[in-house]
Amino acid sequence: MCGIIGYSGRRQAAPILIDSLGRLEYRGYDSAGIAIFNNNTVEVYKDKGRIADLEKALPDISGTVGIGHTRWATHGRPNKVNAHPHTSGNIAVAHNGIIENYQQLREKLTQLGYIFVSETDTEVLAHLINYYYKNNLTDAVVPALKDIKGSYAIAVLCGSELVAARKDSPLVIGIGENENFIASDIPAILKYTRKMIFLEDMEIASLTPDSVLFFDSNKRQIEKQINIIDWDMEAAEKSGYEHFMLKEIHEQPRALHETFAGRISELEGTITFDSLDLTEDQIKDISRINVIACGTSLNAGLLGKYLFEQFAGIHVDVEIASEFRYVHSSPGSLVIVISQSGETADTLAALREAKSYGCKTLAITNVMGSTITREVDNVIYTRSGPEIGVAATKTFISQLGVIYLLALLFGKIKGKISSDQMKRMLVSLKQIPAQITRILGNKEFIEIYAQIFSNANDSFFIGRTFNYPIALEGALKLKEISYIHAEGYAAGELKHGPLALITKNTPVIAIATRGITYDKMVNNIKEVKAREAPVLAIADEKDIEIEKYVDGVVKVPSTEDIISPILSTVVVQLLSYYTAKARNCTIDQPRNLAKSVTVE
Ligand code: AGP
Repeated sequence: MCGIIGYSGRRQAAPILIDSLGRLEYRGYDSAGIAIFNNNTVEVYKDKGRIADLEKALPDISGTVGIGHTRWATHGRPNKVNAHPHTSGNIAVAHNGIIENYQQLREKLTQLGYIFVSETDTEVLAHLINYYYKNNLTDAVVPALKDIKGSYAIAVLCGSELVAARKDSPLVIGIGENENFIASDIPAILKYTRKMIFLEDMEIASLTPDSVLFFDSNKRQIEKQINIIDWDMEAAEKSGYEHFMLKEIHEQPRALHETFAGRISELEGTITFDSLDLTEDQIKDISRINVIACGTSLNAGLLGKYLFEQFAGIHVDVEIASEFRYVHSSPGSLVIVISQSGETADTLAALREAKSYGCKTLAITNVMGSTITREVDNVIYTRSGPEIGVAATKTFISQLGVIYLLALLFGKIKGKISSDQMKRMLVSLKQIPAQITRILGNKEFIEIYAQIFSNANDSFFIGRTFNYPIALEGALKLKEISYIHAEGYAAGELKHGPLALITKNTPVIAIATRGITYDKMVNNIKEVKAREAPVLAIADEKDIEIEKYVDGVVKVPSTEDIISPILSTVVVQLLSYYTAKARNCTIDQPRNLAKSVTVE
């Protein structure tokens, strides 16, 4: 996600804002900016590119109150105009999150005479606060926040007034001596103070150099507790988690929430992708899809095959990107490329090949402005925020989120699913972030099983139908970070060869959530148990049968069978993580691997 910083004190604000933004650099960003109250005006300096370049371009500004931002683009390209802070008169806003109703608000504010210069959702906030502003910034922020739908962490500057607020996006207030801070992430301000107050959803803070007042959403004053943070800088960058991978696994509820934000109306049973430039007639005409991707993104694509075929009746071929050029595609098919980085050389080469056949192309990616996004016809962003661990976790979950929505949307347009089915699926999907949080709450249980795995040399992940791609993903995660040989198999395929490898030394993870293949899955479990393999099942929380057949069970919350793979994913991620940890592996930088594979 983007980074926010705010300062109100007696020192010069600009160097502190720049220094603090620099401490968030490790998370990735595409543009940066600061706003300072100087000479009775709010002055803004921002640009695409690095913080160091912004710093070099800064004039000699003085001012002891200001805000800063590093942007990771979600609405609008990465460029100077779209960089934060955004202004309206003397009000400047830095924002993390997504304002879901920004189009409606933009229209309303335009009618009121406000002029928009950027493509961002954030600019509506600046104008909205300006609209409500009389003579006190907090009084203007309170009604403005009531008008918006979505997630936000904001720092707002107006003259010498500095206000912060949050909903579904983190924000912390740092308490110093004669100075106070706002930050989206603790490392940004850890050098200046260890006294932190965590804002909760719908809370607002008003900062001066000598005080911080806290309010609820109706501007009733509230008391907050100060926390003393004793993390070192490295721990702070990981929000106290031992590894970025674990942090990113824990960020999945929020990542998925952002993936869905503004795209789903479960009450009306509708799905909207602003960026999808395909007419209903064009979608009705799609009879074939080629999904192209590598690694984890490929596994997301494989689940997509089941979803598009089931929800929309569209035939899907899933192609390993590096093999695509040798298979050929027909010009009539829709080519969907999936790549979290948007830079994977194999995927890019396959995309170019597909375009040369005249195929219509669509990318599902996390990085705005990446090479793939510049070359495809359509892009859908996953909005997971920057991912630092080499092992893809939250980007995979968000890819799945997009694919579920896309398959449902195509199914609805093609008349393959009813409104009731659509609403039911959307209601269930909306519950998934909270259900992931429940799984994360039981992670110690998964850690215990990981101890068993950590001594293995070989292992198997098995599943049927839509659980099969998650078996592949579990095996990929385990081998990638723990260096244990792992195979992902369609459970029915075991007896055609790999069963010969099953012994008491090959632990098996069986993804056995309920569904039409459940009984067959139980038979496959019996097959491997007969060869003395230790079996850990991933099963629905209501399943009381499965215990009889296996050595251990991790239960996941009940949901629609076809949606349960998202929940099983979290279990295989945690299992891989804790296994790698037990083996003392360099989890965030596995040997021989890179986050972005830019060579063919
Ligand atoms: C996943 O954990 C791996 N790091 C790898 O398989 C990755 O998914 C693959 O290289 C594709 O990357 P992309 O999504 O950025 O295209």
